[in-house]
Amino acid sequence: MHLIGLRDMAAADIRAILDDAERFLDDRGEVTTPPDEKQRLQGKTLALLFMEPSTRTRVSFEIAARRLGGSTVTVGAEGSSLVKGESAADTCRTLAAMGVDGFVVRHHDRQLPHVLVDRLDTPIINAGNGSGEHPTQGLLDALTLRRNFGLKGDLSGLKVAIMGDIVHSRVARSDAHAFAALGAEVRLVGPRRLLPSEDRLEDWPATVSNSRKEALKWADAVVVLRIQQERMHGQLVDPHQYALDWGIDTTVVDRYLKPETVILHPGPVIRGVELSDPVVDSDRSLILKQVTHGVAVRQAVLCRYVGS
Ligand code: CP
Repeated sequence: MHLIGLRDMAAADIRAILDDAERFLDDRGEVTTPPDEKQRLQGKTLALLFMEPSTRTRVSFEIAARRLGGSTVTVGAEGSSLVKGESAADTCRTLAAMGVDGFVVRHHDRQLPHVLVDRLDTPIINAGNGSGEHPTQGLLDALTLRRNFGLKGDLSGLKVAIMGDIVHSRVARSDAHAFAALGAEVRLVGPRRLLPSEDRLEDWPATVSNSRKEALKWADAVVVLRIQQERMHGQLVDPHQYALDWGIDTTVVDRYLKPETVILHPGPVIRGVELSDPVVDSDRSLILKQVTHGVAVRQAVLCRYVGS
């Protein structure tokens, strides 16, 4: 079994993973591992193949694997035979021949997870394929919303704005599919050039807006995204102008957000651009809760895809 994306995942499966993840959080909402899961990955080795930078995803998969009694090996772009020209698929086949039991893969190539699924029997977990998907981020964001709003099963009735650089964002795609599958209303909001074009909108279970004011007044939760300059070939976005037009500072919060509206961000946050310092650190910000939930979700995912 592989975890490549949420686009085609049934709501019941998403809900089941979130329910499993709840078992990895204690009464205070901190990460735990029930005694009967502590050896779940005993004798198993997970390869973390990260060809793009990562802090949260890579480290939380590593922590999750270790909490379940498994071990990890990390292979990066530097220091492996990838720099000599070996393909990522051949690197994975080589590691599988050494007895690796599962792969967590981040790579700029959107097709790579599909290639790996075709060429390996070992479970593949997509940790971000270019601007494709980031399924564990979608799951942990859904879990964060569900817990914040005290919802047991799904996200019915919740209005979620995903704001910023939508077109380059794998998080936006996985979030939109997870939230919509669970019954939330999803609205993509940002400058026109960073929104999906009209002919791509059928890929998105969401409405679109380019009014910050309208979207922020409407939303119960706002997922704010980083501007991904590294994926913009050509015209970059001016961070100062973006902060003025699309950033959220305390003035914007006071003017537009409802008292109960919360702010999420997958990280890394560029403080002073998409969110001001006081907003990142405010009670509305669920950013560190998302990180905590990431370890719980990844324990649940590893149990399901590697430990069974
Ligand atoms: N949210 C996320 O994927 O963060 P990292 O790039 O640090 O893993």
